[in-house]
Amino acid sequence: MKSDNIQKLLNDGYFVLKNCISKKIINNANTIIETEIENILKQKKIKFKEKDFKNNYFKLKQILPKNIIQIKLGEILYKKNLIRDLLLEKKLKNQLISILGPDIEYEEDNELLINEKENIGNDHLFKKLHQEIWSGAGIENILIWIPLNLKQGMGTLEIVKGSHKFGFIENQNREPINVNSYKTSKLNIQNRSVLFLTALTLHKTEINKNKIPRLAIPILIRNFYYKNTGNSDLNNYRKLNYSFVSIFRKILGNPFYSSFRTLGQKRKSIFEKDKHYKK
Ligand SMILES: [Fe+2]
Repeated sequence: MKSDNIQKLLNDGYFVLKNCISKKIINNANTIIETEIENILKQKKIKFKEKDFKNNYFKLKQILPKNIIQIKLGEILYKKNLIRDLLLEKKLKNQLISILGPDIEYEEDNELLINEKENIGNDHLFKKLHQEIWSGAGIENILIWIPLNLKQGMGTLEIVKGSHKFGFIENQNREPINVNSYKTSKLNIQNRSVLFLTALTLHKTEINKNKIPRLAIPILIRNFYYKNTGNSDLNNYRKLNYSFVSIFRKILGNPFYSSFRTLGQKRKSIFEKDKHYKK
């Protein structure tokens, strides 16, 4: 018997895991982003008001292209281990393991997604209806989308329910071609919740009607034993969790199972040094 959420993912191509991230981590993420924006402005000798995210972001946008801002802010969230802390939140981690198995890793190079008010027409980064597989994800990937600062009118994502069963959809200029129009559903997602999608689920950004830019983190997750059907081998992944077999392999040290460890010597577990095992 599959859990309800796995059944929803199989039937609809998505589900929302509610209240799975603590307020503390969400607040940390927002603080890291605000501080990084202020640090860059400081370096560039541009005046700013502390803790005024909206105005500081638009000041930054005057000196840096949006795609660079998204990359820089994505990088700082990784450097500060915020992404790892998010994924280690118990409810979220357990859900990922129940879908993919215990041997999971996550992509490091994701950007922070920033959506400004009604910028559909003049922003080339505005995402139209697409499948993640177009950008190199494989069917073994799960995509999670984590909103960081949802407020009234910001919107979330729109998806085409059941579209993961259509298979690969032909596309050009980042849009589906040779198809009739799709019926999309607007998703109701709250802060501290996480959206799960397959790599084939058609989805797009909903227009943000709030003056404050919407922030969200997309992360690709996979089981590192599953066959790579996309471009994951070209990207950087970081291990999140190991099964018994993987831990045993690490203890043995090499695939020949040679007893190279010094017998009788007291040594610290190799896993104590491994930051992924601290939690
Ligand atoms: Fe996407």
